[in-house]
Amino acid sequence: MIGGTHGLGRALALGARDRGLRTVVYGRSATPLPDADDLLSGADGPRPDADGLLPRSLDLCDPQSVRTASVDVPGPCYVLWVAGAFLKKALVETTEDEVEQLTRLLFSGPVLFLRRLLAETEGPVHLITIASSSSWKRRERESLYCGLKAAQATFVRNLVPELLAAHPENRITLVNPGGLAVPDFHTGLALDFGAMMDPGEVAEIVWNIAATQRRAFTEVQILRSREPGSEGTPEVSYGARVPQTPEEPAAAGGTAAPLPIQHH
Ligand SMILES: NC(=O)c1ccc[n+]([C@@H]2O[C@H](COP(=O)([O-])OP(=O)(O)OC[C@H]3O[C@@H](n4cnc5c(N)ncnc54)[C@H](OP(=O)(O)O)[C@@H]3O)[C@@H](O)[C@H]2O)c1
Repeated sequence: MIGGTHGLGRALALGARDRGLRTVVYGRSATPLPDADDLLSGADGPRPDADGLLPRSLDLCDPQSVRTASVDVPGPCYVLWVAGAFLKKALVETTEDEVEQLTRLLFSGPVLFLRRLLAETEGPVHLITIASSSSWKRRERESLYCGLKAAQATFVRNLVPELLAAHPENRITLVNPGGLAVPDFHTGLALDFGAMMDPGEVAEIVWNIAATQRRAFTEVQILRSREPGSEGTPEVSYGARVPQTPEEPAAAGGTAAPLPIQHH
């Protein structure tokens, strides 16, 4: 679980553990129980954390950590790419360091880490990727975040042929969630978390989809309901979405003159 220490990744990790899977969680804050609890693990192997998950330190923004963190995982296995952070800022207000760090966290770090992990792992791998509805929705002051999420989605779609060539039972699930009730992710933003999706509920949906997936590739949207009375309820639909037009919502909503039909 790349990013299994908090939020949705933690909920997915607990879901994996509850399904009887040996669950390794990567993150900067991944910490095992102190030495005194060694006996509880019953072996010389890696020590679990307080939830019985196997923690491994990884900083996706640190190239040395991405190069050296252990990729020793048993096959067959699920690999979950979940780690992320949000940035709401106009590009001209964004520092060079912020661009560099967010690109490492959301894209180049996981890509380089996956490159090592996939090369080392024997047996079928099922890659589950948490991108975002921000990969196709119209947003404001989020161009870097949205661009990197779209890159993540496009990257895994195009990984499918080579993963299938490597092993016919390899699988990829691309998940685009909408807003989740994870206050730490939306630090500093005044949002109504009661109208956002519960990460535990979304994790359960993701595991149910992945566990029953027969096709090599599935893309799924898990969006929150806006219906009065059921705000925040997850709504599942399959397939990719056409990116929304970046113009003002009024213009996109049909008040603008229709474009002429072009014949090829
Ligand atoms: N929250 C939403 O509304 C929402 C909506 C759609 C999609 N998503 C996507 O869902 C994913 C999970 O988000 P979340 O809401 O669960 O956020 P979160 O609670 O802030 O969790 C982020 C995870 O990423 C890990 N992480 C952050 N920086 C890292 C680094 N430098 N190296 C390694 N791991 C790092 C964190 O672990 P450490 O702190 O231990 O490093 C943590 O496990 C993200 O990819 C996000 O883009 C979120």
